[in-house]
Amino acid sequence: MSERVAILLSGGGSNMVALLDSMTGDHPARPALVLSNRANAGGLEKAAARGVPTEVVDHRPHGADRAGFEDALHARIMEYQPDIICLAGFMRVLTEGFVARWQGRMINIHPSLLPKYRGLDTHARALDAGDAEAGCTVHEVTAALDDGPILGQARVPVAQDDTPGTLAARVLAMEHVLYPAVLRRFAAGDRTPVWLP
Ligand code: GAR
Repeated sequence: MSERVAILLSGGGSNMVALLDSMTGDHPARPALVLSNRANAGGLEKAAARGVPTEVVDHRPHGADRAGFEDALHARIMEYQPDIICLAGFMRVLTEGFVARWQGRMINIHPSLLPKYRGLDTHARALDAGDAEAGCTVHEVTAALDDGPILGQARVPVAQDDTPGTLAARVLAMEHVLYPAVLRRFAAGDRTPVWLP
């Protein structure tokens, strides 16, 4: 039996597409659901075009009631009985309660070489610091933001004339290699980190 994967996103979903496209053949997982907190997320159409069920759980009606939003999120996700959740540009911070429900079964991709640059604006911060390399990390999700055991990392060189935009594009291309590589291992029960290149 394949592991069932739910992918959560808020935006264009290029990582989601890379994950969907990887789950074929002898891959130990198959997509069960793509869910967004934003109805206009570009990733939803891309998932639907690939025949994957999509759902929207809007966070806004819940206002400051994060637990209320997460209860709705959890209920919708459970309709699809996933084994694994992949966060792929899902731009909501999850509370300890939600994370606990998925502990050891939820992974995230973050556009920095963690533990450097948790949070936002990672590329601008790497450039401001004069870093010679940047990259991305896939990690298990724990209650602390952008923390949790590292499951893989990919490094890219920083060019002298890089802007946050050019660096983001170079890192994103590596995200599309790293995330599928990690998911394949993780779905097979192997938590050995993937180091790229
Ligand atoms: C990716 O760069 C991902 O690493 C980042 O959002 C982008 C989503 O792009 N995630 C975070 O910053 C999470 N803190 P995509 O929608 O094209 O996959």
